Amino acid sequence: MTADESAKFFEDGMTVGSSGFTRGGDTKVVLKAVAERAKTEDLKLTLVTGASLGHGTDAALVESGALKKRLPFQVDTVMRKNINAGNLLFIDQHLGESAEHILNGQFKIDLGILEVAEILEDGSLVPTTSIGNNVEIVKSAEKLIIEINTTIPTNIKGIHDIYNVEEYGKRTPINITTIDTKIGTETIKVDPSKIVGIVFHDIQDMPGDIQPADDATIAIAQNIVKFFEKEVEEGRLTKSLMPLQCGIGKVANAVLGGLENSDFEDLVMYSEVLQDSTFDLIDSGKMKFASASSMTVSQECYDRVINNIENYKDKIVLRPQSISNSAEVIRRLGIIGINTSLECDIYGNVNSTHVSGTHMMNGIGGSGDFARNAYISIFVTSSIAKGGNISSIVPMVSHTDHTEHDVDIIVTEQGLADLRGLAPRERAIEIINNCVHADYQGELLSYFERACAERGGQTPHILEEAFSWHTRLKETGSMKKESLFALK
Ligand code: COA
Repeated sequence: MTADESAKFFEDGMTVGSSGFTRGGDTKVVLKAVAERAKTEDLKLTLVTGASLGHGTDAALVESGALKKRLPFQVDTVMRKNINAGNLLFIDQHLGESAEHILNGQFKIDLGILEVAEILEDGSLVPTTSIGNNVEIVKSAEKLIIEINTTIPTNIKGIHDIYNVEEYGKRTPINITTIDTKIGTETIKVDPSKIVGIVFHDIQDMPGDIQPADDATIAIAQNIVKFFEKEVEEGRLTKSLMPLQCGIGKVANAVLGGLENSDFEDLVMYSEVLQDSTFDLIDSGKMKFASASSMTVSQECYDRVINNIENYKDKIVLRPQSISNSAEVIRRLGIIGINTSLECDIYGNVNSTHVSGTHMMNGIGGSGDFARNAYISIFVTSSIAKGGNISSIVPMVSHTDHTEHDVDIIVTEQGLADLRGLAPRERAIEIINNCVHADYQGELLSYFERACAERGGQTPHILEEAFSWHTRLKETGSMKKESLFALK
């Protein structure tokens, strides 16, 4: 049927599950048709996906008023604006946990929409460039609409490892012991009677917009490479490191890029998104294997990989996000997790999501799944933002996504703070000495010293002053102390 015909299955108040994980394998025509319908009819849906969608679908849905609630992640500027204006409810959820909420019925899916490469004769589905929450959506949905993407070569079959997590009480270990272990099937089994519509399209994934590395991201990458080299020297890591997880964005790409010109070899990755830098490392022979839930790459990289998918079948695997982000597997494999923060504080607590403690940026994504369970949990950030008016290291974070207990290393372009084995008062000195921009270092040290002398405690703070940098930013447009004097 056409996308417009399929849009008729949507009813006000429904919970809808869709494929799509950071643009990869998202549904591309049905939800757009739903947005059109919502312009003239009352339609308020709850939308559950793997992660963010591409092609402006999230913006189209929110602008037409089609959404009441969205989870578990988004990166869209229009959606962000509506969330922060209170027009759209948003549940910011660990990506490794959202499958649980579908399976336990908290988000019972009325209607599921899945992009696939083909439907096999036995009725099973061959996914495209992501798996996300597709397995649980198929299981939970009362009805399913299938989008067949005719641009995806059917020999993509074989890069997926589909695994059904059993219900509690009957759950067995997820038996992944090396990153290339496959434990499931190549396709998603589906009850054909659930399928109410099939829509064809020929739209590729929206390419990732990878920002080129700048001086700060290159310096951050170099600091991490130096840290790895020291870990090898001291015998805690080998030249092939441990399985890498890298968040999305230019820093993550720069870090992986930095590994390309290093002495490290036989690298492997256990992450949630495969980016350009992953395929560059695979093509240069530096990386042996990469496991994730999705691929989000530039057009050039997409063409290189999708048109030659046969060459990558023994080098990559895409898994459900309940597996790529499984605490059990991450802990077993010993992952080096590298994620990005908006701000962190002197004790190593990290805010990745809320600007000035209130306004949603994107969401926690999978960073929490990895940070808590990683062998080494690294957070990266530039030491300053907005032309230096914001210090990314503050006395106390204005929102906490990752507590000090889940943060081993903080890296800025200034340097690296190794917090392992340090108590809070030692952590503060390590962070202030190594990561803070010179414009803010003196004031931060003064804050810490006064907190120790005047208030004491295991984690000293002057509570009435702890957010003074954020209030100064709100009042003057800058966290710098001079900006307050200038105002007076
Ligand atoms: N206060 C306010 N704004 C800040 C800030 C702070 N402390 N630190 C950074 N910003 C702004 C930047 O100025 C930039 O704004 P702009 O878009 O207007 O230029 C924006 O935040 C993004 O920062 P940038 O330095 O370009 O980093 P990024 O693109 O790598 O994004 C995060 C950083 C934290 C927003 C992003 O990594 C994220 O959403 N992380 C959470 C999810 C996650 O970790 N996923 C990984 C597993 S999926």
